Amino acid sequence: MHWWTGFAGKMECDAPLASHTWFRLGGRARFLFHPQDAEDLAALIRRSSEEDLPVKILGAGANVLVSDDGFDGVVVRLDAAPFREVKQRAAAGGGGAHALEVGAGVDLMPLARRCSQRGLSGLECMAGIPGTVGGAVRMNAGGRFGSFGDVVREVRVLEASGDLNTLTRSQLDFGYRHCRLDERILLSAALELREEDPDNVLRTFNRNLEYKTQTQPLADHSAGCVFKNPQGQSAGALIDRAGLKGTRYGQARVCDQHANFIVADHGATASDVLHLIDVVRDRVREVFNLALETEIDIWKPHGVGC
Ligand code: EPU
Repeated sequence: MHWWTGFAGKMECDAPLASHTWFRLGGRARFLFHPQDAEDLAALIRRSSEEDLPVKILGAGANVLVSDDGFDGVVVRLDAAPFREVKQRAAAGGGGAHALEVGAGVDLMPLARRCSQRGLSGLECMAGIPGTVGGAVRMNAGGRFGSFGDVVREVRVLEASGDLNTLTRSQLDFGYRHCRLDERILLSAALELREEDPDNVLRTFNRNLEYKTQTQPLADHSAGCVFKNPQGQSAGALIDRAGLKGTRYGQARVCDQHANFIVADHGATASDVLHLIDVVRDRVREVFNLALETEIDIWKPHGVGC
């Protein structure tokens, strides 16, 4: 008998995490679980709490830096079919409104592209933003063209106790890269989109994607923007003006194309990236007297981020 006996999905012990992240860096997870459905997940959460094991949900790994020493706890991937469903729902908003319920494990970009192709407007701002619906809600992912929270009506969540709950948009209190999901685990989100001319919606999606491909190193190993933008300013522009583009530590470097990206070249370690983050933060503080805050989620072995 193990503490997880009865778990129905797939599981691995001492599982490498690097291949599950966009950085392709970091150590192993003590446990990696792929629950079969929400009930399987709820039981897992209850048992992990009884065992005093920290739990982390890994989406597409697009915004995560796992330390070289890995994560000494439970990592969960919501990649089984029930977490990847996209269902049509009755829209509350009347003429032109179109409601979808999307699972936490649904990939953001294909979802945004499919909606745009069908003339469902609201997710064009997600063009070129990798991730899953779960990560997009938690971080209120987005950029200059809009944020995911703009189209969320309500969400289904698992409370830390393992109980199911529904939260409305106002309870989530979306802000810049912020949402009050706290310790809850997102199961699905109800989205409110608008029916518009498919050609126009797709054109906007493609224009946003073009902007991203021209200004960001989408083909390199990174986790997107490393720092949040300070109020009214661009972290990328500040790092650029501080002369940090091209700065290297080990095999990690500040990207020349967009200074708020740190790229992990072949042979890089998570420690290289962490060191470079400190170098950038210290230099920007020196030059502008301004403290940058990280946007990426840094996983330390015992679950304590920096
Ligand atoms: N800029 C520079 N140098 C740089 C980078 C940017 O001068 O190295 C200037 C740009 O020319 C522009 C301004 O800074 O005038 C803003 O740049 P950009 O449009 O690239 O936007 P950003 O604020 O740096 C935000 C999001 C991105 C998102 C883009 C585009 C944050 C921290 N970043 O970047 O999100 O892709 O808008 O929508 O909110 C991410 O979160 O992973 C991410 C990349």
